[in-house]
Amino acid sequence: MQPVAAQRLIEESFGAADAIGRVILVRGSTANIGLKRDQKPGDHDRVTVGDFLGIDTAGSRVIAVVTEASLESPPTAKEYGFAGASCVDLVGEIRVKADGEQCFMRGVSRYPSLGDAVRRISKDELRLVYGIGEEEGMEIGSLHHDVGVDASVNIDDMLQKHFAVVGTTGVGKSSGVAVLLHSVMEKRPDLRIFLIDPHNEYGRCFGDRAQTMTPANLRLPFWLFNFEEIVDIIYRGRPGLDEEIEILSDVIPLAKQLYGRGSRSERLSAPAGDSGYTVDTPVPYRLTDLISLVDQRMGKLENLSSRSTHGKLLQRISSVVNDPRYAFMFEGANVGGDTMASVIGQLFRLPTDGRPMTIMQLAGFPAETVDSVVSVLGRMAFDFGLWSDGALPLLFVCEEAHRYASANRDLGFGPTRRAISRIAKEGRKYGVFLGLVSQRPAELDSTILSQCSTLFVMRLANERDQAIIRSAVSDAAASLLSFVPSLGTREVFAFGEGVALPTRLNFKQLRSEQLPQSEAVSDAGSDFGRTVDQSFIDVVIDRWRGATLSNRLRMSEENGDQPPAKAHSKPLDPDRYRILKKPGAPSQ
Ligand SMILES: Nc1ncnc2c1ncn2[C@@H]1O[C@H](COP(=O)(O)OP(=O)(O)O)[C@@H](O)[C@H]1O
Ligand SMILES: [Mg+2]
Repeated sequence: MQPVAAQRLIEESFGAADAIGRVILVRGSTANIGLKRDQKPGDHDRVTVGDFLGIDTAGSRVIAVVTEASLESPPTAKEYGFAGASCVDLVGEIRVKADGEQCFMRGVSRYPSLGDAVRRISKDELRLVYGIGEEEGMEIGSLHHDVGVDASVNIDDMLQKHFAVVGTTGVGKSSGVAVLLHSVMEKRPDLRIFLIDPHNEYGRCFGDRAQTMTPANLRLPFWLFNFEEIVDIIYRGRPGLDEEIEILSDVIPLAKQLYGRGSRSERLSAPAGDSGYTVDTPVPYRLTDLISLVDQRMGKLENLSSRSTHGKLLQRISSVVNDPRYAFMFEGANVGGDTMASVIGQLFRLPTDGRPMTIMQLAGFPAETVDSVVSVLGRMAFDFGLWSDGALPLLFVCEEAHRYASANRDLGFGPTRRAISRIAKEGRKYGVFLGLVSQRPAELDSTILSQCSTLFVMRLANERDQAIIRSAVSDAAASLLSFVPSLGTREVFAFGEGVALPTRLNFKQLRSEQLPQSEAVSDAGSDFGRTVDQSFIDVVIDRWRGATLSNRLRMSEENGDQPPAKAHSKPLDPDRYRILKKPGAPSQ
């Protein structure tokens, strides 16, 4: 378009006839608009908070967002013949570039002056304001202002600078995450996604694009756990005893050193010098070696109390190792040799084989191991990125993030927080991107939250949560946050790097089979009148016990072998017993 023609277009579209008011005050990045007399309640043109207006200045159209509308203030507006006034934030302007193209820019170069005409902005202008190029834009829903206009985020900015989805329970966070991840997979089919799913709700959202990991099919050998993590496992989430931990810290590096040697007797008889391994080096070691080493030390001791410390440690180790619920980390852990490459390959989809996503379902794990497991996974995701120089980007998404990275340093497991914090702080350098989901942003470590440059804020009722978000967004956006307590389901404010402007939008409507938890709680919850018979209770108990069976039993059953003991036998009739959507889930 020629500049002259474009200019004329602007003039035409800003003909005085469709003006709804005039600028009566300009103050920094805000202005007051006197609204024309014929603005009656119920009038089609009525102005309310969140509306977009265009202000006709000498060389551009300034775009403004209404933050307040009033019949009363300022009182002088009425004296000048206006019906009322509204306050607006000046957020940017539409300019005509040298080639005649129109474009939207954030920030204002020419401020409106008194008397400038104010108009609603058109659908095309709205597209210009929120438009993100075809290549980098990822469509996630529609604009609140006009459901006919797609809402997009800049996918690379959103991913590379991390994002967070926050909102009260039930407002559509998990569904929103499913929308985001569906779009990410479509736009960036090679990006691998690792989703931490504490409530086993995403299992079927992504169809055959995702593999689901559970205690039954996960093999996470104990030797991949670093020292703090393995101590946490051995002491089942409670603090360990100093003397015992000291013994462990001595023998684990030795066991790692012994790993490479031949027969067991040869290994144990050879003198163990400085191994060069630390307690944290991720190389295999054998449990048998570890136990023999502690045993050997105990044999040499005269002091009764030290002997008993060693004895207790051995007991503790064997009780964990023999606990069938811990089979995912101990069973067969030394059989395949050094399986680190295959474990990492499977977890992080290398190669993707058309399934770029792993859903890590945590609900079936013993509750006291979950923190350590998330810590190992987060750490491995980061370290793989680090040591591969970010060659294979990975998006690490963590639901219930406040559980793993709590604001209160005394809560949760330090190593898990550190693993997530490391991704938040340095991940982008190594192609490891973070997506956090939380219903309690105030309880989420604020340094981690502050690294998330794109925020999807859904309804937040709690004042503390709102305050945290307010401190995380720019001043101009903060005025929009006053809407946050009143947002509906699926409605979200997007702030930050991923969007041109703070954007109020509705996430796409998901089909029922794509919804997380699609055997919806709400369905079950409304069905209090369900008749329950004895067989129902029996089935529940069967499943309950089944969740604590060893993986060996489970796998032999899955392979069609005869299980040695009665396992969780009857599957539930899905229609009848929809209330049981989380088999084995310790409800949180
Ligand atoms: N994008 C969406 N498409 C369809 N239904 C939705 C969507 N978002 C939310 N819902 C409805 O709201 C319910 C709660 O959403 P959910 O994502 O589980 O919320 P949250 O994770 O915040 O607790 C869903 O079960 C679904 O019925
Ligand atoms: Mg949820």
